[in-house]
Amino acid sequence: MSMLHVEKMTKQFGGLRAIDALDLTIDKGQILGLIGPNGAGKSTAFNCIAGSFAPTSGQITFEGKRINGYKPWNLCKMGLARTFQIVKPFASKNVLYNVTVASFVTTGSRKIAEDKALAVLESLNFADKKDILAGNLTIADRKRLEIAKALATEPKLLLLDEVMAGLRPNEVDEMVEIFKALRDRGITIFVIEHIMRAIMALSDRVVVIQFGKKIAEGTPQEIANNEAVIKAYLGEDYVAAGN
Ligand SMILES: Nc1ncnc2c1ncn2[C@@H]1O[C@H](COP(=O)(O)OP(=O)(O)OP(=O)(O)O)[C@@H](O)[C@H]1O
Ligand SMILES: [Mg+2]
Repeated sequence: MSMLHVEKMTKQFGGLRAIDALDLTIDKGQILGLIGPNGAGKSTAFNCIAGSFAPTSGQITFEGKRINGYKPWNLCKMGLARTFQIVKPFASKNVLYNVTVASFVTTGSRKIAEDKALAVLESLNFADKKDILAGNLTIADRKRLEIAKALATEPKLLLLDEVMAGLRPNEVDEMVEIFKALRDRGITIFVIEHIMRAIMALSDRVVVIQFGKKIAEGTPQEIANNEAVIKAYLGEDYVAAGN
């Protein structure tokens, strides 16, 4: 059974069709990449799947259950967690506090929540910053906090919206290894990212959208060689650079 199945999903904002009859499937244990130009509808797709907006039409099925219109907090309890492109931590609280709040999705005990939060921070090589106020973190560490918060809810499916933006190349490589380790632990991952090196290294399959419509789907290699994708997104320079 697929972990997530999206069928003919459409999201209309007034006269703008941000998502147009999108179909996609993620199998358990897969990493699916979602790419496309700015404004293509990638975050909107996440917002519909994770319950921030109900889709205008179409079907979203998570572990065999139709979840259209479910609220984010209920989806989170069911095992579907996401990060936000624009991060909004409790700025005046420290890292551990922020992650512990997320752990309360899985337990009512403060002690257990804090222990889980610490374990998540350790898995992200982030425990040394547990006492830093979230408002004082660098952009890279705010992104890491966003991932930690999502992981603390113990997701089966993790939606990552541009969590590697602004990271240095060595930090991107570290994140890629972390996500692979999460996948190896059984977490299914759906990732939006503009950094092609990361998408190529991580994804089992990649879906490409433009103006809310799927224009290609395949392995990273197939996508890198797809004429429509090169034209709409990657550009001739990407190909010329020998990627
Ligand atoms: N809440 C909203 N109300 C109205 N229009 C919206 C809303 N959210 C997104 N849009 C519009 O929907 C389109 C898709 O936006 P979206 O944020 O999903 O793109 P994206 O692919 O995530 O882009 P980026 O790569 O820049 O993050 C854009 O034209 C955007 O202006
Ligand atoms: Mg976006």
